[in-house]
Amino acid sequence: MKATQRSDYTFKYNKKLGRHGWLRLTPAYSVKLVKEITDNIPDDSFILDPFSGTATTGLVAVEHRLSAHCFDINPFLIWFGNAKCRNYSKSELRKLKSGIENTLTECKMIVNKDNWVPKIHNINRWWCEHTLKVLAALRQALVNQFGEPKKDNVSALAWVAFCRLIIETSSAAFNHVSMSFHDEVTTFEIEQVEYLYLEIVNVIIQSASEELMGLASVHFVDSREPVFIDDVRYSHVITSPPYPNRMSYIRELRPYMYWTKFLDTARDAGELDWKAIGGTWGIATSRLQDWESNGIELPETLRRVVTKILETNEKNALLMAKYVWKYFHDMHLHFHSLRNSLKKGAMLSYIVGNSSFYGIQVHTEKLLEDSLRSLGFTNIGSKVVRKRNSKKELFEFCIYATWKETRKYEPVFLGVNSAQWEQRSLF
Ligand SMILES: C[S@@+](CC[C@H](N)C(=O)[O-])C[C@H]1O[C@@H](n2cnc3c(N)ncnc32)[C@H](O)[C@@H]1O
Repeated sequence: MKATQRSDYTFKYNKKLGRHGWLRLTPAYSVKLVKEITDNIPDDSFILDPFSGTATTGLVAVEHRLSAHCFDINPFLIWFGNAKCRNYSKSELRKLKSGIENTLTECKMIVNKDNWVPKIHNINRWWCEHTLKVLAALRQALVNQFGEPKKDNVSALAWVAFCRLIIETSSAAFNHVSMSFHDEVTTFEIEQVEYLYLEIVNVIIQSASEELMGLASVHFVDSREPVFIDDVRYSHVITSPPYPNRMSYIRELRPYMYWTKFLDTARDAGELDWKAIGGTWGIATSRLQDWESNGIELPETLRRVVTKILETNEKNALLMAKYVWKYFHDMHLHFHSLRNSLKKGAMLSYIVGNSSFYGIQVHTEKLLEDSLRSLGFTNIGSKVVRKRNSKKELFEFCIYATWKETRKYEPVFLGVNSAQWEQRSLF
């Protein structure tokens, strides 16, 4: 059986699923995948997602009466994730609607003023001057009505709708794995923007009115560090960490983050990405040149692959070798810290992709399995989830393990059983 690209195991599956579809982000994983992992787990389970992103795990958990804590280092995603996982009362939503009517009235009155626009590099690639003027007025009217989007209250929905609006009016194209630009920038009149905004608001309010039965919260935590929230010990870790493929999560998030003032300058974007495992945006790459490991013991298999990358003698071989080294170094630190917050028998499911540098295969799943093994996890293995693209060697895997328990754990999903996996005919 050959693994296929399975778009139902990507972010594409989430687009029409209520809150899951609020904002489109390529690195988000599929609700279907998370559901297949959470199916049949006991009601009293406490899930951890240490790399929350758009809080897909948190939201699946609360939709199924489960509890979850989610961590991320990106303040926009923490704000957004909490907005997704929270309940909204009828009266809150009524108030929001009338606030939005006031906002639209004000927007018309201030559209010709000199309103604030974000310092996005080459902004006219995204929006023409005319559309920018309308968006800036709507933004200012939202600020006047609700304040900046930093508080955890119902107004987050008005801001999430604004985020979606800026993408829908932009020339951003999402026709492949990552984002690119259409050649033409469309001009939107104020009436069109208002209409579109109201349409988005209505869709968001509709899904926000559905009651969530579980509890999930997203916290500002660097997952390489030990952390205890309310002294919880987790029974399941379900997550998708960054992949070692030099794709920065911040790339797609920039428009949202600049317009909502979670980011101010390009330098800030690089600073934030330097904190992210596998980050490479702006300054993050130059910092990597000077980075040294803190001397922790890492699997011998990692040393071998890093050496092979170095030996290609390509122009950036040293940088790429460091990149791979630091990625697995950071993931090792993460597993190391994680042990403190797990219940005995806790089950881990990590969805992650492999990569290749100058033709050298980086078997992410095997390297992370080696890390887990050296740190005392048991029942370690992995399954292919899907083929990533047309390149024959790129796959997504589910790596699984348990914490100090002999009971066999292997997620029941994906239709690829261990025997088929063992054949690994694709390599
Ligand atoms: C692949 S994304 C997760 C996507 C998520 N499963 C979803 O459905 O949206 C990885 C996330 O890890 C976060 N991250 C990177 N380094 C981190 C760290 N050291 N601690 C916590 N989160 C981190 C990134 O900000 C990003 O949101």
